Amino acid sequence: MQRLSSQLQQSNTPPELVSLIDLIAVACKDIAHRLQQGAMSGVLGSAGEENVQGETQKKLDVISNDLLKDYLLASGTVRGLASEEEEGIVAGSDKGGYLVAFDPLDGSSNIDINSMVGTIFSIFKAPATDAVSEQDFLQPGRNQAAAGYVLYGPSVMLVLSTGEGVQMYTLDQRIGEFVLTVEKVAIAKDTKEFAINMSNQRFWAEPMQRYIGDLLAGSDGPREKNFNMRWVAAMVADVHRILCRGGLFTYPWDNREPNKPGKLRLMYEANPMGMLVEQAGGLAYTDTGPILDVQPEQIHQRVPVILGAANEVATCVAYHAK
Ligand code: F6P
Ligand code: MN
Repeated sequence: MQRLSSQLQQSNTPPELVSLIDLIAVACKDIAHRLQQGAMSGVLGSAGEENVQGETQKKLDVISNDLLKDYLLASGTVRGLASEEEEGIVAGSDKGGYLVAFDPLDGSSNIDINSMVGTIFSIFKAPATDAVSEQDFLQPGRNQAAAGYVLYGPSVMLVLSTGEGVQMYTLDQRIGEFVLTVEKVAIAKDTKEFAINMSNQRFWAEPMQRYIGDLLAGSDGPREKNFNMRWVAAMVADVHRILCRGGLFTYPWDNREPNKPGKLRLMYEANPMGMLVEQAGGLAYTDTGPILDVQPEQIHQRVPVILGAANEVATCVAYHAK
């Protein structure tokens, strides 16, 4: 079986990017170890603080963020970092060629119930500027040099794209290395499965109400087929299911907080997942078009998200155009 670094070295990936991805993998193995120790390592529960998004930080959110920061800043490869858990960007090495945006622990409400969580990352080439600034990060997702996530599930998996399709690696605990287990991920164009938090139904806009209503009507409705529903409440796990067996995932705008464009963050949730989904032959849309074409205005910006099976995403988007 091929190990992550040797497989990347044989691809067209620049050496500096290979070492950066390798470093993210090392940090994530460290996070995986702490998660597996659970209550024994005293890492469960709340850190008693709120992050910049106004969400209560879990101890493991903070620990994962610090681990990633420490590993990445100690390397010379990173010019700057942006994280869900950091208000502003964090400067790295002047010589570093890359910018990394990450969600250190996605789905962290799952931690205390021993359910799936993950680390999501997005990598851009650093523009040639004297001092790194937030502006350098504000590039459309289309510019990503690489994107991926590590899923902490029954097995630990790294899912990655460097722009040449999507590969999946599984952590072989005996040797402590990620090994290639799926060479080319492909999302089927059609699906009978969708993922949405149904408890927000009454808050959605009319087109989403109509679209989901038609899915729920099943074989008796206009879609003339029955749909199944899944919701892990960790985007990383829901997207992983879609990369493995297809489906549609959406977190739409809703009117609980009408001025908030959505729940998910563009730079370290929607963009990296958008790249993976497109690279696997799916579509990833927001209200204005493909997620990867959005010109970001802030590092913590939120966007509505519809992604997954190409034909199903196109159908959902068409309801909004009517
Ligand atoms: O990071 C935000 C997030 O935790 C996603 O991972 C997940 O898809 C979503 O929020 C779950 O939201 P809710 O709690 O509303 O179901
Ligand atoms: Mn998240």
